[in-house]
Amino acid sequence: MDRKELIEKYIEFFKSKNHSQIKNSSLVPENDPTVLFTTAGMHPLVPYLLGETHPQGKRLVNIQRCVRTGDIEEVGDTTHHTFFEMLGNWSLGDYFKKEAIEMSYEFLTKVLNLPKERLAVTVFGGDKDFPQIPKDKEAAEIWESIGIPKERIAFMQGGVATSDDNWWGPAGKTGPCGPCTEIFYWKPNSTPAPKVYNPQDDNWVEIWNDVLMEYVKDKDGNYNEATQKNIDTGMGAERTIAILDGLEDNYLASMWKPIIEKIELMSKHKYDEDKTVTKAMRIIADHIKAAVFIINDGIVPGNSDQSYVLRRLIRRAIRYGRILGIESFTPQIADAIHPIYDDYNLNAEKINSEFIKEEANFLKTLKQGLRVLEKIAGHSDGISGKNAFLLYQSYGFPIEMTEEIAIEKNLKLDKKGFEKEMQKHQKLSRTASAGKFKSGLADSSEKTTKLHTACHLLNQALREVLNNPEIFQRGSNITPGRLRFDFNFDRKLTDEEKQKIEDLVNEKIKAAIPIEMQEMTLNEAKSTRAIGVFDDRYGEKVKVYKIGNFSNEICAGPHVQNTSELGHFKIKKEQSSSAGVRRIKAILE
Ligand code: ALA
Repeated sequence: MDRKELIEKYIEFFKSKNHSQIKNSSLVPENDPTVLFTTAGMHPLVPYLLGETHPQGKRLVNIQRCVRTGDIEEVGDTTHHTFFEMLGNWSLGDYFKKEAIEMSYEFLTKVLNLPKERLAVTVFGGDKDFPQIPKDKEAAEIWESIGIPKERIAFMQGGVATSDDNWWGPAGKTGPCGPCTEIFYWKPNSTPAPKVYNPQDDNWVEIWNDVLMEYVKDKDGNYNEATQKNIDTGMGAERTIAILDGLEDNYLASMWKPIIEKIELMSKHKYDEDKTVTKAMRIIADHIKAAVFIINDGIVPGNSDQSYVLRRLIRRAIRYGRILGIESFTPQIADAIHPIYDDYNLNAEKINSEFIKEEANFLKTLKQGLRVLEKIAGHSDGISGKNAFLLYQSYGFPIEMTEEIAIEKNLKLDKKGFEKEMQKHQKLSRTASAGKFKSGLADSSEKTTKLHTACHLLNQALREVLNNPEIFQRGSNITPGRLRFDFNFDRKLTDEEKQKIEDLVNEKIKAAIPIEMQEMTLNEAKSTRAIGVFDDRYGEKVKVYKIGNFSNEICAGPHVQNTSELGHFKIKKEQSSSAGVRRIKAILE
């Protein structure tokens, strides 16, 4: 099945059940310092899952572009993808378990026509560390009542603290969460599904996750019953299509084919020629695709945060390109991706220019690495694990490449030693990035809260100093170390203007102004001339934060109590972000 057909079927089905379609949000979450990318359809919905009213109602459906960076190194097998599209439907305090399960079942068996004989489900089986949360008998009973036999319903135990198996969330440290029920499909075409579901058998593949959000975790770690019970579901489009097409390998599906064919054409290799070639082609296709979408959402390759992930993706693709004997190929692969996703309005020109620049930069580094390798080769008869790792980490040499060179130069390579070094490094980097990649939203540290309030001051200072009430926020991203604020303006700011803006913000900080918050309807907020982004993110009721008579802005918060808490505001950088949009990076000292 074509991706567009699946998306259309999904959206139409849920529309027929009174859901309204919401927009496919950016891969770069706004005002959320704890995640680099949107990793699930629910991310942009967190305020509404926590009780804000959504302007489009209580039943929502969409297709959300997602990037998951936790397992970049695992890409290369048949199922892992960095970029994927998630189909999802939500109930914001409207229908709950029964309807959610019934709708999922109806969609799978009546619309996608998957035989129910090949379906199995898992439900939450209780967690001995959380005895107060009962196992989800209700979900199991609902499944049984619609025709899934007992042997195909598994109660999975544990997972609350780690948020795995049959517990999902919260996305951050606190917030909505709950048991989930996962739907599995028996993949092998050649055999009927076994009577009993076995969670250990990989032939059962997960096709859909229905999260039954009936708890809210508070900051003390307690799981309290939620006043608003929500449904949050997620179905990976890539995996579902592979299942529908009876494919053992996702990369054989129609949404990957033109990309793989382009790589075959350029490299003169065949996808199924041997394991190394297949793996390299999957990595190239996956990474370039993810990079295309990340660039399209405004990120350029660099050395921190999203930019660094983007750089890693492009460089890893290039390294695997070298294994296939191709160079300067990334823009051409990107070109093959655009027609598959022509519903996204991808900016081909911008995307290609970033690929060309990054590929040139990387080739320079690679050449330096080759010289280092020559030196190593000149002094010994082998390449140690440590040196192979140095080549990998500092010069971007995949072990396969080092291996090939070693064979060519008749050198021994300590591959085991390399793997040991690699494991050591991965452990370290996993620990370091766990906070960023795995945790999610609604986690506001003191530093980010301060920077958030500074954003409001900056927003108003820009309007006043540049004497332009038409200046609005075009994007914002806060990490504990800095704020980044995008706004519409068509030229570079002068040094004098930057100074005046800084001075004005610092003046407001010194004035020790208390920050007041009021909840009101969107119309009331507009009538107080509160500024805001005014797209479909607001509910009927909004929060308006006022900083004296200086700033009046619609925002979900949180903010400090008084501007005096902020310290000293300093602009670090002012640059162009895209046509007609400027970007300021600033810190609090
Ligand atoms: N938010 C749920 C997931 O990502 C649906 O699996």
